[in-house]
Amino acid sequence: MSEPTNLPTPFDVRDKVCVVTGSFHGLGSVIARRLATNGAHLVLGDVRDCTELATELGGIAVRCDVTEADQVETLMQTAVDHYGRLDVLVNNAGVESWEGPITELDVDGWRRDMDINVLGVALGIKYAAPRMAPGSTIINIASLFGLLPIPTLSSYNASKAAVIHLTKTAAVELGPVGIRVNALCPTGLTHDSYLGRVEGVYDWLDDWLKLAHQHVSELGHADDCAALVHYLASDDARFINAQIIAVDDGASAGTSLAAMEAAIGQKAEWTDDDPFLEAPPVDS
Ligand SMILES: NC(=O)c1ccc[n+]([C@@H]2O[C@H](COP(=O)([O-])OP(=O)(O)OC[C@H]3O[C@@H](n4cnc5c(N)ncnc54)[C@H](O)[C@@H]3O)[C@@H](O)[C@H]2O)c1
Repeated sequence: MSEPTNLPTPFDVRDKVCVVTGSFHGLGSVIARRLATNGAHLVLGDVRDCTELATELGGIAVRCDVTEADQVETLMQTAVDHYGRLDVLVNNAGVESWEGPITELDVDGWRRDMDINVLGVALGIKYAAPRMAPGSTIINIASLFGLLPIPTLSSYNASKAAVIHLTKTAAVELGPVGIRVNALCPTGLTHDSYLGRVEGVYDWLDDWLKLAHQHVSELGHADDCAALVHYLASDDARFINAQIIAVDDGASAGTSLAAMEAAIGQKAEWTDDDPFLEAPPVDS
């Protein structure tokens, strides 16, 4: 049997110029590593100094607060000045800076979540898109909580719901010029900075999420998202546009059986003798 020849490389991102915001640590750094490992050129933007990671990945680091328009413009222009173009923007920088009952809403915390999570994404799109050629793509990191709000995280939930709508708006505006815009909605994720920083703090939330998942009774990992970003960044995803993709083991689809049983404190049982809604006999 002859070997197949000239097969395209799946999810090919070689030589694509990718800006990833919020890449000092956490999901952004995992995404940056994944893209760089597969041959992309990385431009790392963060309020913190990403020089160490950029050096490791053979990319460049730009100090950038995503809420500052001039800094976001400089980030995108630096990618073009250094590499000659900009192919992929991953709007990843995000925070959850306030939590509590909505009746005790903290105005500063609310504004911070909205500024970084929503305005930051909008500014990224504003300054990246005019520098992108047809075939380029923008990937926004939203959250499961933008689809399925969770109590006490009102500003975070609302900011991520806004990212979802912003993604669709940008997709319909930029589709005609050949730029695809999609969003990921991850469940709770572990990664290097989560472990050791917030692990243990949100045990109640982690326990709920593990129950909410349909199959995998653990948190997701940043790699689960990075794999999808890798695909979306490649030309294999050229027909995938304006999509909001949950990376949540089905948690957004509905209550899992495990969560139902935990809530009612007993195993769910069914009996054929007592149907919930009885079907009439066929000859009636
Ligand atoms: N970790 C999770 O469980 C989870 C789940 C769903 C969605 N997300 C989303 O994934 C993204 C990354 O989350 P993470 O868990 O890696 O968080 P993280 O706190 O580990 O990392 C966030 C990064 O963003 C940077 N950053 C913060 N404010 C910034 C600003 N104003 N400008 C530029 N950079 C800034 C930080 O320096 C850091 O490098 C966020 O948008 C978050 O909402 C995370």
